[in-house]
Amino acid sequence: MQPYVESFAPGSGRRRPRADALSDARRLNLNGMWAFRLSPTAEGTGDAFLADDFDDSPWDRVAVPGHWVLQHVTPPGEQAPRSLRGTADGPLYTNTALPIPLDPPRVPTENPTGDYRLVFTVPEDWHGDGVLRFQGVDSCAKVWLNGAELGWSTGSRLPFEFDAPVRAGANVLAVRVHRWSSGTYLEDQDMWWLPGIFRDVELLARPTAAIDDHFVHADYDAATGTGTLRVDTDVPATVEIPELGVCMPAGETATVPVEPWSAESPRLYRGVLRSAGETVELAVGFRRVEIRDGVLLANGRRIFLAGVNRHEHDQDTGRTLDVATMREDILLMKRANLNAVRTSHYPPHPEFLRLCDELGMWVVEECDLETHGFIYDGWARNPPALPEWRAALEDRVRRMVERDKNRPSVLLWSMANESWTGETFGVLERLIRDRDPSRPILYERDPSYRNSDFYSLMYPSLEALELIARREEPRPERVTDEEDARRRSLPFLLVEYAHAMGNGPGSLADYDRILRGSERCCGAFVWEWIDHGFRSVDLAGAEFTMHGADVDYSPNGGRFCLDGLLFSDRTPSPGLAELAKVLEPVRVSISDRVTVRNRYDFLTTGHLAFRWTLEDDGVEVASGALDVPLVLPGETVEVPLPAGPREAAGETWLTVQAMLAADASWASAGHVVAWGQGLLNGPFDGLRDRSTPVADPVEATMPLTASVLRLGPAVFDARNGRLTEFAGIPLDGPELDVYRAPTENDRGQGGRNDLASVWKAVGLDRMLHRTDQVAVENDGTLVVRGRTGTAAHNHGLRSVFRWTAVADSAVRLDVDVDFEGAWTDTPFRQRDIVVPRLGLRFRLPGDYANAEWFGRGPGESYVDSQAAARVGRFRTSIDGLQTPYPVPQENGNHLDTRWLRLTGAGLPELRVDGAPTFAFTVRRWTSEELERARKPHDLVDSGAVWLNVDAAQQGIGSASCGPALPDGYRIPRERTSWSVLLQA
Ligand code: GAL
Repeated sequence: MQPYVESFAPGSGRRRPRADALSDARRLNLNGMWAFRLSPTAEGTGDAFLADDFDDSPWDRVAVPGHWVLQHVTPPGEQAPRSLRGTADGPLYTNTALPIPLDPPRVPTENPTGDYRLVFTVPEDWHGDGVLRFQGVDSCAKVWLNGAELGWSTGSRLPFEFDAPVRAGANVLAVRVHRWSSGTYLEDQDMWWLPGIFRDVELLARPTAAIDDHFVHADYDAATGTGTLRVDTDVPATVEIPELGVCMPAGETATVPVEPWSAESPRLYRGVLRSAGETVELAVGFRRVEIRDGVLLANGRRIFLAGVNRHEHDQDTGRTLDVATMREDILLMKRANLNAVRTSHYPPHPEFLRLCDELGMWVVEECDLETHGFIYDGWARNPPALPEWRAALEDRVRRMVERDKNRPSVLLWSMANESWTGETFGVLERLIRDRDPSRPILYERDPSYRNSDFYSLMYPSLEALELIARREEPRPERVTDEEDARRRSLPFLLVEYAHAMGNGPGSLADYDRILRGSERCCGAFVWEWIDHGFRSVDLAGAEFTMHGADVDYSPNGGRFCLDGLLFSDRTPSPGLAELAKVLEPVRVSISDRVTVRNRYDFLTTGHLAFRWTLEDDGVEVASGALDVPLVLPGETVEVPLPAGPREAAGETWLTVQAMLAADASWASAGHVVAWGQGLLNGPFDGLRDRSTPVADPVEATMPLTASVLRLGPAVFDARNGRLTEFAGIPLDGPELDVYRAPTENDRGQGGRNDLASVWKAVGLDRMLHRTDQVAVENDGTLVVRGRTGTAAHNHGLRSVFRWTAVADSAVRLDVDVDFEGAWTDTPFRQRDIVVPRLGLRFRLPGDYANAEWFGRGPGESYVDSQAAARVGRFRTSIDGLQTPYPVPQENGNHLDTRWLRLTGAGLPELRVDGAPTFAFTVRRWTSEELERARKPHDLVDSGAVWLNVDAAQQGIGSASCGPALPDGYRIPRERTSWSVLLQA
């Protein structure tokens, strides 16, 4: 073993950390294809590869930046690339468990080690030495230049530099990278373990009088509207900001009228810092961050961080991202009304922060520090509690703060994630405060919060959050009176909530209501931005999204890495649409007036244009521009409803949209920022006249002894009362349906969270149906009585289906259902059974292909996730109604449906109306098949279309990591009636 790999020290030979900067000094980008050889232990290939004349032509080639475990390595002599994916040498995913024995700072002898080698040419006119900069190497690297050792470093997501005595002409750069090192113990974040040189490598020229480091202090005084600028540097230099008329020596102070920087209005003043030898670009944003009376303020005003947690992830390249992808992330965030990002759980590529400065995002920058794995030892030997680790922890914090101290977007420093407690946090806090007193400090996990300027939690229930919002939360254990009093006075920052795993998260609107309503709450960050899945191909050649459990390795975090608002390929999930609606910075509500409330922190509504649309039963009848006077932040205005036709036969809905009036840096003119809807004419009154049985009901035409019964256009099997044909359409059903394919949130951890295991235990997924009676009443109503239950249990549902013919082309079904028996899992455990669905399932011919409906859409909606679904008329294919969650599960529900039409070649149109409104799903497979599928491509056309017409489906929640589904979003186990009209 190489001793440095297991050293408590963070590195050796490195230069002092300094600000990331763009300058006119020459730089040589060393990214590209490097020679590479993987060895099983830390000894690597030995020393031979350091030599100038070493022949690396037989070695593999890998891309730098990149993770070797994600690359197709072509070994010499082999024609086809060999993928390292899916093997123990490949990417590994764990959540909290360390993939190596808990034996700090030692690591196993099995320590995959990559020797990298690059021969690069330094131009003749380069002049002098340079600095070699590595922006990120996972997890430990030792570096040699032309055979001489420069040093080594740990701290994967942080830069390190060496003085590099380069020579004109060919130079040999050799880097040995170890998968495991002492640093591994400090990097136990919930993510893939991905070794390699995964960020850029550069050679930087350092001219004489180069500016080694600089520190921009740009304060804003809201009372005077002035900014105060001072740039400190290590050599004599001039600060030039032409737009401000500033031209002064570094170290001096200028106070000038400025526009402040904020995420909403990212005003940057560009200029330069010029020394005799180098010119560094400045992008100055003036702003002041402070906490006053327990409230977080920026530029003198309360701000609210509408945030998301972002890991760096690409489905092919892992944590190696190109700048276009970083920009895309920010554009998608801004278009979803997010204004803040927590760089969970490490400093991102520096270019990402430069883009946050430019496009406007508040950044909670988190250090590359998580010691979660020590929880398996009861937090014994936790690094923050031990002096031997202190230098390594300080090194990480220092490298973060020094690198990013000049970024106006960085609002506060987060010292670590989930690393429990230890004296060293006090050391880190002091280190940060001494160097950068302008930004607050966050640490979520220490219950005393003694080193944090914020009280903070993850995944509280709505009830717990209500108490926090009122500063009435219960006192945590193990804290002193003083600590408790201090903590209670702090602003509250919700660092993680709304776990976006699979279909979800639910309750976003509930969280928003509580958070915005309390001055104490200064922001919240959804967990998380993007699924960490890898694009992969199975043995049969089918592409799929790979998650932890697709790798045969233990411990294994399984599917838990798929918990983002974006799918792994950056397609937004329905959860992102819901979040965008809930977070909208302007609230439009409609009653007898249109009310516009400005929820921005700083912006007026001056950049928005308003537009109204009037729809009659979902068909647009009029539209126009809405004149809304300027609304100041925090204020509300009301305007009269626009004039337009009101005398419609159906429901008249007014929709008002607020959109960008002109192009912005992050979206084009016309981008909808917010919208509201109101019912002007209605409300919807059920099946209305269409469904009233005709005066003379059509009689059932066959006696009950026959095997077939006819009622208007409907044909029933007289033995079981099931509909077998309607208007010539062969079909089957309806069956009482109380099941859904469990979502990730249905499979939550523990007691009330793991609903799906109770459903399985009590057989909700295998209900049996019995028909008790099929009878025709005097008025011609066909009555089918039945019971639905499951093997071995006495709980069940009694149902009465009453069928009546309506004219020649329709039948009406009135359903009445009640629960009976003991709805607990066993007499011993007494776990309450909550049915996830209460509805009817029909099997229809597979040739139905398209759906049109009037109700909520266009995306899917559930009781606790429906803000983004407006009422309207929508049309799509049946295939288009499916959301391809990478782990198949319930999806594609549509609430508040008034009617649904299905069409398909060679089939009569089938129309379903409901009263009250119904929820529908339409699929080419059953819920059981959906549940059985492991990957989306396991879902195959069953040859039939399965239609659910449901009275209710339970909410989605976010119990995969978080509170149980609130009771209000569960289906009450009570007698329920609803009606359906089938027409062809
Ligand atoms: C948090 C943690 C995250 C992630 C999340 C669950 O506890 O900070 O890294 O593991 O839970 O997905």
